[in-house]
Formats: sequence, C-alpha cells, structure tokens
Amino acid sequence: MITEGEINGFVELAKGVYWVGAIDWNGRDFHGFTTPGGTTYNSYLVIGEKTALIDTVKAPFAGEMLRRISQIIDPSKLDYIVVNHMEPDHSGSLAELKKQTDAKIIITKRGLDILNGYFRDAGSEKWDVETVKTGDQLDLGSKTLIFLEAAMLHWPDSMETFLKEDRILFSNDGFGQHIATSKRYDFEVEDVIPDAAEYYANILMPFHMPLLRFFKVLDEQGIEPLQIAPSHGIIWKQDLPKILAAYRTWANGEVKEKVLIIYDTMWGSTEIMANEIAEAVRAAGVEVKLLNLRKNSRSLIMKEILDAAAFAVGSPTLNNGLFPTVGDFLIYLKGLRPQKKKALAFGSYGWGGGAVKLIEQELKDAGVEVLEPGLQVKYRPFEKELERCRELGKELATVAKE
Ligand code: FEO
Repeated sequence: MITEGEINGFVELAKGVYWVGAIDWNGRDFHGFTTPGGTTYNSYLVIGEKTALIDTVKAPFAGEMLRRISQIIDPSKLDYIVVNHMEPDHSGSLAELKKQTDAKIIITKRGLDILNGYFRDAGSEKWDVETVKTGDQLDLGSKTLIFLEAAMLHWPDSMETFLKEDRILFSNDGFGQHIATSKRYDFEVEDVIPDAAEYYANILMPFHMPLLRFFKVLDEQGIEPLQIAPSHGIIWKQDLPKILAAYRTWANGEVKEKVLIIYDTMWGSTEIMANEIAEAVRAAGVEVKLLNLRKNSRSLIMKEILDAAAFAVGSPTLNNGLFPTVGDFLIYLKGLRPQKKKALAFGSYGWGGGAVKLIEQELKDAGVEVLEPGLQVKYRPFEKELERCRELGKELATVAKE
C-alpha cells in the first residue's frame, strides 16, 4: 500500500494527497531569522473528484512546484487554491500559478485584504476568490477540507486546513521548522524538535495567547490529526504527540533551571565579567550557557531563551550607548516578547557609562522582569568587582530555581 515516502519523485501522504513543494537548500535568512540549514516551502495537492492545492511556495520556486504538480495532474485542472497565509514565502507563486489555472482561491477575510495588497489582478476581480471562516467546509468529493482560522499564527490572516477523511492538519507556519531536507517525514530524519523549538522561538513566541486559543478551537471542532503537515520542514506523524506536547510547553512559557549569559565585549572587560557570572551560576548547580553575540546568531540565542528561566545581558559602553550587536539583539528580543523571564544587565565602561541603564530599559520594554541594580564596571574588573559578578551569578541561579 502506498501511503508515504518517496514515490516516483513525489510524496504521497495518504491516497490522493501529495507533497508538491520546494526545497530551498541555500536559504540562509528568513526575515532576520538565520537559517543555516536552509528551509522548505511545502505545498500539498489534494485530489478528490475535485482538486485543491494547499499553499504555494516562494516566488523563485514556482517552477519547482509546478513541475511537481505536473507529475500528478495538469495544473490547469486545479479547482481550488487554499491560501492559508499570505506571507510571500507561501503566496509568492500565486501570480505564476494563476497564469495556468482559473482555480478559485479560498482564503480568510483578512487574507483577502492582503491578497489585494500584493496582487493587483486579485483586486480587479480577474481572480475568483471565496472567503472562509472557522468551521467552513469544502467538499472535494471523497475529500473534505475544514478551515480553521489561526489569526497571528503567524499573521492576522493565517488559517490552517484539516483534511477530514485522512485526518491531516495542514498547519502552514504552525509546527514548522527551517530545515532543508530531501526527506519529508519525522521518522526519516534525526530528531527535529530542536529545529521546531528554534522556529517557534523566532516566529511564534509573541503569539502564545493566540496559540492557546487555537488549541481550544481544535478541541471545539473535534480535530484530532494523525499527521500535521506544516508549510516548512518535515511532516509530523511518528512524533506528533511529542510536538503537540512541546507546543503546549512553549505556549505556556514553561522554563527550566537554566541561565544564559548573553554579551559582547570590546577590550575584554565585559567578557571577564560574563565568565565570572557564568562560573558562579555553574557553581550553584544550575545549567548555564555563555553566548557571545558575535559567535552565535540572534536566532540561536532566542531558541536558548525559550526554556531559560533567567539570563544576563552584558555590553560595553560605546559612544555613550550600547555595543551594536547588543542593541541589535535587544531590538529583536523586544519584538519576540518572551514570557516569564528574569534578567539583569552588566557591562564595562571607560568614562561616561550608560549601557547598563539602556539594557535595563530595553529588557523592561520586552516584558522581562529586571533584577536591579545591574553592574557597571569602570575599565577593568578586579577582585571587588569580580566578587560582585559572583553575587550576580548566585542571584541568577537562585531565581532560576524558584
Ligand atoms: Fe512561512 Fe509567516 O510565513
């Protein structure tokens, strides 16, 4: 029985349900999220008596998607294109696809506004469009699609689509991972929960409340998927319970006894402080990671923050302000608004100082509970200042254990 795996170059998730997406081996950045492992843009073809394409791919990959669709059906025969989300990594190929088919676009009301904003032809009524809301169904004949609005997972327009007969949830950005692989299923690759964690931390972390609401919608609609097929990365089947449990943990902001020391340094003084604080955390029996902002991407640091109870941010004062990498990181952090975190600031200065106060303000603006006062050291830390660093390390360890 053919139900999964690689078959003649395409992948069948269930009878009449195919992956027809694209693999971006060279993608290294997703709007500021560093993606050293590339990514995929997953489209899925569902064939009943009528046919529907669920999501398209980023514009440069339209040809790859169309070639995959053409292996199965003539793209001109498509009846519907379900647009779960209008961000261009999923909708970028719509114009190319619409040159080949008159298929009706199925989209949320909020998605329609964005569609009209991106594609002039959509607004001119050349495109046949129908809006849907949670609970609406589309009967393809032997296959039924149920639509589930998922506002803010990841944009206001987002929705997910459930294929009733095969119990597959096409979750768009939800449950995604930015990895490029020729494999499509979780059981074919090494554990990708860490990739899903990094994806969650960098894309969905600010939207934990909409996510918890979406879980309620799934319960109310009686949605119990056997597979979750996101539009980035691999499809969850064997590890489905694992990823669902992980999402609940992340959405609830559950943290571990884990502390991060995130810093940059100009002439080594802030790094000496970082090491001293980290050593005191370690000595108190709490896991600690030292993360230099010029050696680690901000995306990786956000993944580490996801389950850390507390962290410290260190910066030298440069021209009365923050060191540039620290400023970059704090702006990114502020947008992602981590929950249930405690943090403190430290750093060195020469004459004016000021970086520590600026860090504290940015942390507060990010919704982080700030442990004050932070520590500012003139020129170089010696024994008195190092003792103060050790005290800060102990304080971080204590709050991490609370
Ligand atoms: Fe994968 Fe929000 O786009």
